[in-house]
Amino acid sequence: IFPDSEQASVQVARELAAFIRQRAQEGRPAVLGLATGSSPTRVYEELVRLHREEGLSFQNVVSFNLDEYFPMAPDSLQSYVRFMREYLFDHIDIKPENVHIPDGTVPADQVAEFCRRYEEQIREAGGIDWQLLGIGRTGHIGFNEPGSGAASRTRLITLDHITRTDAASDFYGEENVPRRAITMGVGTILEARHIVLLAWGEGKAAVIKRMVEGEPTDTVPATYLQHHPAVQAVLDEAAAAELS
Ligand code: F6R
Repeated sequence: IFPDSEQASVQVARELAAFIRQRAQEGRPAVLGLATGSSPTRVYEELVRLHREEGLSFQNVVSFNLDEYFPMAPDSLQSYVRFMREYLFDHIDIKPENVHIPDGTVPADQVAEFCRRYEEQIREAGGIDWQLLGIGRTGHIGFNEPGSGAASRTRLITLDHITRTDAASDFYGEENVPRRAITMGVGTILEARHIVLLAWGEGKAAVIKRMVEGEPTDTVPATYLQHHPAVQAVLDEAAAAELS
């Protein structure tokens, strides 16, 4: 628990940078699972600063993003491809061929095959070493909304009403928010070796309490993180306020 999200984000970026450097020294890739949304933006800014000012290289980084709206053109304002370029990828030296983001343009009848292949690519990369997560007010991680099982894999899901409400301002109205998304599954996420979940602000306090202190249940998919051996929840004081 940090006094504010600024200090927390800088600390997370430093830890991630140390991991990437350690892997580079060993001549090994660092396989990262990445999130979008407001929670990780300051982490990405700090990683960009570390690249520009302190020589942090991403040449050995392989990345897999959690999710993407469906359908979604990559150049749309709300696309997670665009988000990742703007906040991170356009400003660092990651190899374009090492970047993976679920494709919101896949024809509907080919989504299942795309998702199967996404899982295969994660396996071929050696699995995710370090997974960054945010959490939705519904308790979603990735876009695994209530009802998502602990063993769920990468798939097309229907977004919860609350999630669409929360995204409404990005889309200039809830009616414009896509109803579906492609997301890594809870099972996919739980296979990551190390998980860091970020939550800032009082709007997340209630769901953080349920995630940490509630019984594991598919009505709050983030509770499944309790089963994982190496999870850090990085919170500001407001998000931690309801913890007992
Ligand atoms: C985004 C994602 C979502 C967000 C969550 C919180 O890739 O997977 O689970 O992390 O909706 O969003 P913010 O950070 O905007 O509050």
